[in-house]
Amino acid sequence: MSHSEPLLVVKDLRKVFKVRGSGRKATGFTAVDDISFEIARGQTYGLIGESGSGKTTTGRMVLVLETATAGSVKFEGNELTTLSELDMRRYRKRMQIVFQDSGSAFNPRRSVGAQIGFPLERFRIVPAEQVRGRVNEMLERVGLEPAHYDRHIHEFSGGQRQRLGIARALITDPDFVVLDEPTAALDVSVQAQILNLLKDLQAERGLTLLLITHNLALVEHMCDHAGVLDHGRLVESGPVDELLSAPRTDITRKLVDAVLEPEFVG
Ligand SMILES: Nc1ncnc2c1ncn2[C@@H]1O[C@H](COP(=O)(O)OP(=O)(O)OP(=O)(O)O)[C@@H](O)[C@H]1O
Ligand SMILES: [Mg+2]
Repeated sequence: MSHSEPLLVVKDLRKVFKVRGSGRKATGFTAVDDISFEIARGQTYGLIGESGSGKTTTGRMVLVLETATAGSVKFEGNELTTLSELDMRRYRKRMQIVFQDSGSAFNPRRSVGAQIGFPLERFRIVPAEQVRGRVNEMLERVGLEPAHYDRHIHEFSGGQRQRLGIARALITDPDFVVLDEPTAALDVSVQAQILNLLKDLQAERGLTLLLITHNLALVEHMCDHAGVLDHGRLVESGPVDELLSAPRTDITRKLVDAVLEPEFVG
């Protein structure tokens, strides 16, 4: 698969946040520092790093939910960072995100089914009368039931909420999904179920994934290639087996050692 055209190419991507400095002066904080990587179609790239290293900011810039200060994001060869919001709309349904806490992205006062189905109406993917049927198929595919359609988010467990988040991300049949710590809030056994579900869905739908995590064990389980972020810089990037067997930086070595501790195995 590595010979195929990359679906996503990120080049010299940078984010400088304006922060309040001493006195009235605003200064710049570089959260993402000229990083480059690419993801081949159907593959999973892992972005690993400690808290605050710039993982979420990178994921959000790739989806153009956050404006890049500099650099390029190409999707199927098309530059996204310079598109108007109107032109970006064409890509929105093809690029989705799953968060650590999917529950918080649902409105507590509306049924989960209506919210999962909303993009089908918004992008006019199916006629209104077919929305419920489509949502129910998706609910069943992620291990939930049609009866869950009319329930509200507080009626679901943490694992079920992640399943709902996945259903919502996949309802528009996207090509590319950012998974931002998708299992970090779950028990280990539930983590494994969700990861296996994601792997199955990826195989069925040919999904290309960007997996954001601080846990190298997840990367080992899910990814072909990965990069290590440290204070906004991509200090190492390559095939996962190489990162694991021959880490070139202290920060990667630390992550590898953490995986080898018994509590992280399995
Ligand atoms: N809107 C913002 N304004 C200013 N600084 C920000 C903003 N968003 C993020 N940052 C800073 O940028 C850095 C990177 O944040 P980011 O959320 O990308 O980290 P992360 O790797 O996802 O961390 P975590 O593992 O805790 O989720 C952090 O130092 C953070 O405080
Ligand atoms: Mg984050």
